[in-house]
Amino acid sequence: MKKTIAIICMAAMGMSVSAAVIPNGGDDAKMDAFISSLMGRMTLEEKLGQLNLPPSDDIVTGNAIDSNIGAAVKRGEVGGTFNIKGAEKIRELQRVAVEESRLGIPLLLGMDVIHGYETVFPIPLALSCSWDMDAIERSARVAATEASAAGVNWTFSPMVDISRDPRWGRVSEGSGEDPYLGSQIARAMVRGYQGDLKGNDKILACVKHFALYGASEAGRDYNTVDMSRGRMYNEYFAPYKAAVDEGAATVMTSFNLVDGIPATANRWLIDDVLRGQWNFGGMVVTDYGSIGEIAVHGVGALKEASAASLKAGTDMDMCSFGFIGTLKQSLAEGKVTMEDIDRAVRRILEAKYRLGLFDNPYKYNDVSLEKTHVYTPEHRAEARATAAKTFVLLKNEGNILPLAKKGTVALIGPLANTASNMPGTWSVAADLTRPKTLRQGFEDALGTKAQLLYAKGSNLYADPETEAACTVFGRGMRDPRSEEELLREALDVAARADVIVAAMGEASESSGESSSRASLTLPDTQRRLLEALLATGKPVVMLNFSGRPTVMTWESRNVPAIMNVWFGGSEAADAIADVVFGDVCPSGKLTQTMPYSEGQIPIYYNHLNTGRPKDESNPAYQKYRSNYLDNPNKPLYPFGYGLSYTDFDYSGFRLDKDVLDSNGSITATVTVTNKGDRAADEIVQFYIRDMVASVSRPVKELKHFERISLQPGQSRDVSFTITPDDLKFYDYELKYVAEPGEFQVMAGPDSERLSILTFTLAQ
Ligand code: NOJ
Repeated sequence: MKKTIAIICMAAMGMSVSAAVIPNGGDDAKMDAFISSLMGRMTLEEKLGQLNLPPSDDIVTGNAIDSNIGAAVKRGEVGGTFNIKGAEKIRELQRVAVEESRLGIPLLLGMDVIHGYETVFPIPLALSCSWDMDAIERSARVAATEASAAGVNWTFSPMVDISRDPRWGRVSEGSGEDPYLGSQIARAMVRGYQGDLKGNDKILACVKHFALYGASEAGRDYNTVDMSRGRMYNEYFAPYKAAVDEGAATVMTSFNLVDGIPATANRWLIDDVLRGQWNFGGMVVTDYGSIGEIAVHGVGALKEASAASLKAGTDMDMCSFGFIGTLKQSLAEGKVTMEDIDRAVRRILEAKYRLGLFDNPYKYNDVSLEKTHVYTPEHRAEARATAAKTFVLLKNEGNILPLAKKGTVALIGPLANTASNMPGTWSVAADLTRPKTLRQGFEDALGTKAQLLYAKGSNLYADPETEAACTVFGRGMRDPRSEEELLREALDVAARADVIVAAMGEASESSGESSSRASLTLPDTQRRLLEALLATGKPVVMLNFSGRPTVMTWESRNVPAIMNVWFGGSEAADAIADVVFGDVCPSGKLTQTMPYSEGQIPIYYNHLNTGRPKDESNPAYQKYRSNYLDNPNKPLYPFGYGLSYTDFDYSGFRLDKDVLDSNGSITATVTVTNKGDRAADEIVQFYIRDMVASVSRPVKELKHFERISLQPGQSRDVSFTITPDDLKFYDYELKYVAEPGEFQVMAGPDSERLSILTFTLAQ
C-alpha cells in the first residue's frame, strides 16, 4: 500500500518511480515543489474538492447532513472529513481517497477530541482549574496517542475562547476568564497534540473559535458579539495568538459576528490580524455550516458568502458546501480569482504534507494499535491523577473533609449512580458505559472498611421535559418514581448513616454546545432534597457536578462542605473518591468567577475600575456608587479561589528594588508555608495593576503563577521576575506598549486575598 502512495506522489511530482520517496515532513522548498507539481495536475473541480470538509455520518455534531462521503471521496470532491470512529472505517475511507480518486490525495481525518479520546480527561474548564501545564500537556498527548492510533490526524482543539458568562454552556470547553492563564493552556495543548508533528502519534491541532465566540450576548449560544478593538486585543485575543505562536497548524473560525461581519468572512480578522499581524501560515477552516449561516446573519447568500469567505482568507469549508458548490461560478464571474483558490488549496495540501500523509496516508491508522494504545491502564492512571487536581474545594467548615474510611457513608443524589454522565460533554469517542459511577468509585475506595448506602433522592429536575432537554444523547437518567418516593427513600438511608455525601448539580449535557442556561442555581427538586438532608443534622458534604460556575449562594450558607467536581472524565469516580477520602489533597482553583447571582453576569476579576467604585470595606448599598440595591458586587467565590486540606501562610512579600528600568527586571518574592500536617500543592498567584495609563487598565491582571508542593511545615520562596514585557498592553492606537509610571504587584492564594507592593517603570 505504501508503495502505491509513493508512486502516486512521485507521479504528481513528475518523478520517475525509481526516485526517492517523499520524506515525512521535509524542508519548505521541497514541500513547495511537491505541492506546485501536484497542483499543476489538478482540475478546478479537484481543487475545490480539497476545500470541502463534509461531515461523516458517524458521530453527528451539527445539523445532520447526508454526505455520502465514500462516493464523494472517490470523485475527488473531499479534502477531509471528521468524526468517524474506528481505525478500520477510517482506513477504508483513506484507501478510497488514495487508491480510487484520480490523484490519490490523502484525506484529513478530523475529530472533536476535546478532552481525551476513549480515556477521557476532565472537561477543559476543569483541567484549567489544575493550573498544571505539564498535566494539561500530557492530557493532550494521551488524547493524540489514542486518536492517532484509531486513524484520526486532526483534532478540533484547543478551544481557547475567553468567557465571562457562565450562562454560556461552552465555558465548559474553555479555560475560563483569564487571557494569561488561557494562553499558557493553549500553548500546552498545542504542544501535547502536535509536538514537532513528526512521528505517527502526532495530530494537527485546531485553535478555535476565532474569534470572540465566548462573548455571545446574554450567554446564549451562537448569539451576537460586539466589542471594542481595545477589548479584543487586550482581553480576548491572547490565547488564540499564543496557540498560533506555539505553532498550531490550523484555526477554526467562529459562528459569531466580529464588527458586524461574520468571522468566517471577516477579512480584517483573518487576513489582517491572524495572517498579517500574527504571521499565521497555516490553514483556516470554518465552523460547522458557518458559510451557510452568513445568509442567516443577513450578510450574503451562499454564493456571495463563499466568495467573501475565501477572499477573507478562509481555506476550508466545513459542511456548508459553499466552496465546492459556488466558487466555480464566482470564478467565472470574476468574483474570486484562481490565485484565491490556489492559495487555499496550497494551505490544505501543506497541512497534509506536514503531517506526512503524502508519505504514508495510513501512518496514523493501525487496527492493532487501536487495541493496545487506547484506554490503557497508564492513560487511565494519568487521567485519574489529573482529575483529582481539578476539583475545587469551596468550603470545608469544621474540616468535615476528608472523610474517614469508617462507619456508614450515605451517598445520595441524582448524580451518584450514573456512568454515562461522568465524562462530560464532548466525549464523542468514549464508550459511555465504561466509566465507573461515583457509587462504584466509593465502594471500591471503602472496601470493607466502611459501609456505603445509596439513594437517588431526586431526579435532576422535577419536570421531565426539562430533564430530557438537559440530558440529550441518551444520557437520560430519569427515575420513574415520584419525587416524594425518592425523597422518602433518601431520608431512610440518611437516617442510618454517619455522614451524607450529596452528589448534585447539572447533567453533563447541560453544558457544552447549544446548552445555555438562564438560571444557574440548583434545580428545585435537588434543593429540596438538600434541605431535607441538612435537616437530619448529620454532616453533609455536597459534590457539585457542573460544566460551568453555578450559583451556590444558598448552599454556601447552609452546607458545611462543598467541592466542585465538574465533569472529571472517564476516571472521575475514582478521582473523586481519592479526594473525598483523603488519599489526595484537593488543590484546584477556580479559573472562572463563581457569581453570587445571575444578575451580576458578566462578572470577572480583571475588570476596569469605574469612576464611582463601591467602597468594598462597607458591604452596605452606597448611593451614587457603582453597586446594586439588592446584591453585592463581589462574587460568591473569586477567580483563583480554592481550599486545601491544609493551610498555607503567605508572608514576607518583597521586591528586590522599586524602580524597573526599561530593559531591566524586578523580582517579587513571597514566602509560602504549609502550616498543616499534610503534604499538599498550592497555586501561588501574582497580579499586576497599571496605576495610570493612556487608557484605563484593569484593577488587576494575572501575570504569573506557580503550582508548588509543600511538605507539612515546609516553606518556599516563590518569585516572579517582572520585565517591561509583563506590563505591556495595546494602547488606543493598538500599539503594544509598556508605559512608564507606577505599578502595583500583588501576590496571594487567589485574586482577592492579596498582598500589594508598588514599583515604578522608569522612562
Ligand atoms: C461545531 C462546534 O462549534 C465546533 O467546536 C466543532 O468542532 C464542530 N461543530 C465540529 O463538530
